[in-house]
Amino acid sequence: MYKFEPANPSFCSLRPFLRVQDGSNIVDYNYNRIICLNWLKSNPTFTVKVFCCESEASFLGKESSAALRNSFAPKAGKQNLRHQYYLQPQASSSKVAILGAAGGIGQPLALLIKMSPLVSALHLYDIANVKGVAADLSHCNTPAQVLDFTGTSELANSLKGVDVVVIPAGVPRKPGMTRDDLFNINANIVKTLVEAVADNCPDAFIHIISNPVNSTVPIAVEVLRRKGVYDPKKVFGVTTLDVVRANTFVAQKKNLRLIDVDVPVVGGHAGITILPLLSRTKPSVSFTDEEVEELTVRIQNAGTEVVEAKAGAGSATLSMAYAAARFVESSLRALDGDTDVYECAYVQSELTELPFFASRVKIGKKGIEAVISSDLQGLTEYEEKALEALKPELKASIEKGVAFAQKQTVTA
Ligand SMILES: NC(=O)c1ccc[n+]([C@@H]2O[C@H](COP(=O)([O-])OP(=O)(O)OC[C@H]3O[C@@H](n4cnc5c(N)ncnc54)[C@H](O)[C@@H]3O)[C@@H](O)[C@H]2O)c1
Repeated sequence: MYKFEPANPSFCSLRPFLRVQDGSNIVDYNYNRIICLNWLKSNPTFTVKVFCCESEASFLGKESSAALRNSFAPKAGKQNLRHQYYLQPQASSSKVAILGAAGGIGQPLALLIKMSPLVSALHLYDIANVKGVAADLSHCNTPAQVLDFTGTSELANSLKGVDVVVIPAGVPRKPGMTRDDLFNINANIVKTLVEAVADNCPDAFIHIISNPVNSTVPIAVEVLRRKGVYDPKKVFGVTTLDVVRANTFVAQKKNLRLIDVDVPVVGGHAGITILPLLSRTKPSVSFTDEEVEELTVRIQNAGTEVVEAKAGAGSATLSMAYAAARFVESSLRALDGDTDVYECAYVQSELTELPFFASRVKIGKKGIEAVISSDLQGLTEYEEKALEALKPELKASIEKGVAFAQKQTVTA
């Protein structure tokens, strides 16, 4: 007997896992839906349910336990061994590069990605201090092979054959600074790194974390365009942290189970351009006007909360690494053939009159398959006003990025 329970509503950034119950023995396996279904077909005698689990709550738990199960499989009892054999993940061939891997975000992000069984190789690039990070990480007994690359002479090699490039390189905010204040330094860094991506792995998914994301994504796009390799489906500004924060704060405020909460966040990734659509919260929940105002402002300023608490020692790194790992994991699942992957991201968009906009997108093997427009329909009056209010600021940040890139020399 088995039961397939696709509890996952389509527009939900949750992921399925397979729970196998054999007598009193219950094991959860993290799988994409295709593998789940194939397994179910060949094992019709188990009581099996496919559940959904919130990536936020489970990234480490599910992925690391899958990796650990790999190493322990030979020690399992005979009967279990057979079950485990069917359930072992196929070795995945995805290669991930982190540019800026020795930094505050880069290091914990590298650790989280190293724990994913979907990664066969993890390339760590930085201008300094990356050798030690790679040596340290390489001792973890998870499948991904870790390679280090230091300085511009090794940048090209760090990108060869890579499927996903994550860019957290740059300087973080200090108290009193806005994300825009980072522009001059980080704009140049992103421009240089994306040029190398264009030359060495033009088909890779590119995840841009370096701030100000509202401008660095248009810079990256302009560079790729001038290199003749721009694919709008594959360039993502990482805004997952806004969703992670929104989910956490809403769950706390309304006393909900964290794993149940999903709040889409649209617009951009700075101040008022961050617009959590609380009216679209799943599960459906009602908020007073005061709660909407308080939550919206807290989500918009959550980065500053961290910058001030760190008092000059940087900006959000651990929560950012966690959010970026979730986005990488979603991309890897999409590349692996999962057809049910949704995340919010800042991308080229036609949802509004602005050329770039963060919204929920459906990600597939070849990148963005759809930009989800339904979240923007039937907004509350508060959200409508906030949406109109954010547009001039977002437009200015986009134009600043484009103007910067157009002044640069890009080698063909
Ligand atoms: N998208 C988001 O939600 C979000 C959240 C937090 C921080 N950020 C941004 O992420 C970036 C990194 O933050 P951090 O706290 O890790 O900073 P950090 O200073 O701790 O680390 C940055 C790393 O980048 C490296 N680096 C600098 N120039 C480089 C280059 N040309 N090539 C490769 N590496 C280079 C540095 O050596 C350092 O290791 C900042 O721009 C920050 O504003 C984004």
